[in-house]
Amino acid sequence: MQRKVTKAIFPVAGMGTRFLPATKSIPKEIMTLVDKPLIQYAIDEARAAGITDFIFVTSRGKSALEDYFDDAPELESSLAAAGKMELLEILRNTNMESGAISYMRQNRPLGLGHAVWCARRLVGDEPFAVLLPDDVISSDKPCLQQMVEAYEETGGCMVAAMEVPQDKTSAYGILDHDNADGNVVSVNAMVEKPKAGTAPSNLAVIGRYILTPRIMNNLGTVKRGAGGEIQLTDAIAAEIGAGRMVSGYKFDGTRFDCGSKAGYLQATVAFGLSRPELREELSCFLKELVATKA
Ligand code: G1P
Repeated sequence: MQRKVTKAIFPVAGMGTRFLPATKSIPKEIMTLVDKPLIQYAIDEARAAGITDFIFVTSRGKSALEDYFDDAPELESSLAAAGKMELLEILRNTNMESGAISYMRQNRPLGLGHAVWCARRLVGDEPFAVLLPDDVISSDKPCLQQMVEAYEETGGCMVAAMEVPQDKTSAYGILDHDNADGNVVSVNAMVEKPKAGTAPSNLAVIGRYILTPRIMNNLGTVKRGAGGEIQLTDAIAAEIGAGRMVSGYKFDGTRFDCGSKAGYLQATVAFGLSRPELREELSCFLKELVATKA
């Protein structure tokens, strides 16, 4: 029986330069898909997987995130007075219980691995999850929940995995792996952003991880890797080097790369179409638009 995963780290320190000027004054995690900020999708997914402690690794200019998770008593009472109970319920679901959420500043932009390492004291000696809010995953069973269930059997470190086109492998952490046993692959090696033509496979790491506390020690000692940054991938690869098991989990679902404009637009359309109240109008509009632009 594995120790239950109840803590999750959300690295949200990135500047979101790809979305300037929108991100000049709002954190990119507050950008919305339909009517929910990107970060809310990650929070909902984590909650569904049993996470009760939410750790945000932030940076300067991200205070809007703290306000977002706070109670909004004035707004709540005016909605209540107006009898808008459905909206009130939606709003209350974004509140975080006191003490459930903590914020840690990443003082220097030294990479994803460094951001995770900044939360080491809050994680302590427990397994923990990491969710990258740029990766939004639409699925029947939330992706992290699928992973937590698989992790109860495997233990060790587990990364979400998805096949990507060969010419895109240099944008990801890539797994050298054995054949899949169901959704789980055993990882023999992993490399962050391999140069074109050198990737060991086209199975890429997607931004959901379940990690052992040893990863924090590894992060404290790994050298700077791809892009001159401290890479989470390298700290996980060090586990394999030490003879410990790392698995990849090929999740069921569709992943949208909301860190890119194209992915963000695709997610907006897909999540819009999945809303019963928007579906018909949006799909008619898209059909007409495509027909007239064709
Ligand atoms: C990060 C990780 C990479 C992973 C990717 C998934 O890269 O370093 O291993 O494949 O997320 O989205 P980033 O996209 O932050 O450069």
